[in-house]
Amino acid sequence: MVRKAISHWKSLAVVAAVVLVVGLTMSGNLGLTGLSNDAFADPTGIKYTGAGSCAAAACHGSATEKDGGATRHNENHIWSNNDAHAKAYTQLLEDTSKAMAKNLKIEDASKSERCLNCHGLSGFTKHDNTVHRIVLKPEQINAEKYSVEDGVSCDACHGPADKYLKPHTEKGWTAKLRTDLGSEKLFNEWGLYDTKNLKFRADVCLSCHLRIEADLVAAGHPELPFELSIMSSDESWIHWRNHGEWFGAKAWAMGQAVSLRESAMQTAERTKAGADEKLIKASYDRMLGHAILTRQAAEAVDAEGRAALDKLLGDVKANWADAAKREAALKEVAKAVDAWSDKLNGIAFDKAKTEKVLAGLASEGEAIAPHGYRAGEAYVMSMLAVSGSYNTDAKPADGEAKAEKVAALYDVLGDAETYDAAKFAAGAKAMAELYAGGKSLPLP
Ligand code: HEC
Ligand code: HEC
Ligand code: HEC
Repeated sequence: MVRKAISHWKSLAVVAAVVLVVGLTMSGNLGLTGLSNDAFADPTGIKYTGAGSCAAAACHGSATEKDGGATRHNENHIWSNNDAHAKAYTQLLEDTSKAMAKNLKIEDASKSERCLNCHGLSGFTKHDNTVHRIVLKPEQINAEKYSVEDGVSCDACHGPADKYLKPHTEKGWTAKLRTDLGSEKLFNEWGLYDTKNLKFRADVCLSCHLRIEADLVAAGHPELPFELSIMSSDESWIHWRNHGEWFGAKAWAMGQAVSLRESAMQTAERTKAGADEKLIKASYDRMLGHAILTRQAAEAVDAEGRAALDKLLGDVKANWADAAKREAALKEVAKAVDAWSDKLNGIAFDKAKTEKVLAGLASEGEAIAPHGYRAGEAYVMSMLAVSGSYNTDAKPADGEAKAEKVAALYDVLGDAETYDAAKFAAGAKAMAELYAGGKSLPLP
């Protein structure tokens, strides 16, 4: 079921891209903004390395899984064979990329920082309550075992490995430093980025998976859907083992909160860039979708947090007409959600909380529908993720039958072209019958 969710949404992204290319000729001049134009320093000062540094059979390049240890030693093998990230660079050689490059007046997408930032090895930093990819200069990469063709390789998610490469092979080293230093110092001092920490994981995934710039979208790049639980649990390609009960529900909540933060920043950036009104509205609608979903998580685990967030969402609405004030209000939302997601990171999920979230989400279908296709898509992925977590951890007898009904929402969703808000609202009503007792929380 999970795999269906991912392949389905992929084909939809392609359709969306085609539609927007057609729109481009009429949309006029778009300002540049966002990830690749921001120059940020690397907080670690440590060199990045290539995938080749991790590929020895005794390290992570074993063809078969070895059990019983901290790692299974076949991570490189899984990544290079099954993981789309290993093919991210190849995407830049495709005709679709050439067409985008032409629209953007870029000579060669496979050499452009604007693409390699996300489709190749780049650095990571967090600044002003949002995440940035850092375009690496040659002297920031230990070039011995690096090839640009490796695409999104190990260090893009695990941090610059040059300093930790040797010590981390010692048994227990990583676990001890994680405990002794905590995630932030582990990264700043050693370059080792803690992907086990769900806030950190959401930050690093969403540094590439949401805040695509308006001019890239206008040039034909798909808007980027993301849901952390499903997208980091798909056994067909992941090289890791997730830990902890109710992982799905908690990862979902973290993914929504960080997506809300990033879509607020995206709306602010598109506003600042004077992007096409349609693209500003698209990111705002998406943000409201993530807001509706995140508020149900907050209501179940931290009602005070929800009230504080509602006030700031109200400020965005009140200041919408004035672009400068709107931008400032959106940044306040991002700041507050960032702090709230740190709090969320310390809250354990259980059966009761997950049931409450699930019923709450089930009640929001009608409220989500008017916010468009991307919000509807986020809703369907959320229902799949949280009900999937419930089925896995609480193992209810009717779990499978209900899962089928949730998955059927994908057919109601359709694609970006055929999306019909009234039809989606009617279809999503079935969710409230499936998981009853929730209360929709009207947006301020
Ligand atoms: C903000 C990060 C980011 C930037 C910048 C970016 N991409 Fe992407 N791109 C992605 C992600 C993530 C996907 C995967 C989308 C998915 O399937 O969810 C993707 C998918 C694609 C695809 C496959 C499209 C499809 O419809 O399946 C192509 C082609 C592509 N990108 C080309 C480019 C080119 C060319 C550039 C530069 C002009 C670029 N990208 C810049 C993140 C980015
Ligand atoms: C797209 C991001 C991403 C890329 C690229 C990536 N990883 Fe990972 N990796 C993760 C996440 C997320 C986890 C799960 C959390 C954890 O255990 O740290 C993980 C876990 C691991 C683990 C622990 C496995 C376990 O079962 O606990 C190892 C070892 C690892 N990765 C090695 C690698 C190597 C080697 C490469 C390159 C060949 C690589 N990773 C590329 C995201 C990534
Ligand atoms: C450096 C940028 C970057 C980071 C960090 C990153 N991704 Fe990606 N991801 C991409 C790009 C680019 C693609 C598209 C690759 C392609 O289509 O070949 C992609 C593709 C994917 C896909 C496949 C999408 C599809 O349509 O098949 C999944 C799932 C995914 N990423 C999940 C994650 C998760 C989970 C994390 C965090 C643990 C993560 N990514 C971190 C850039 C990134």
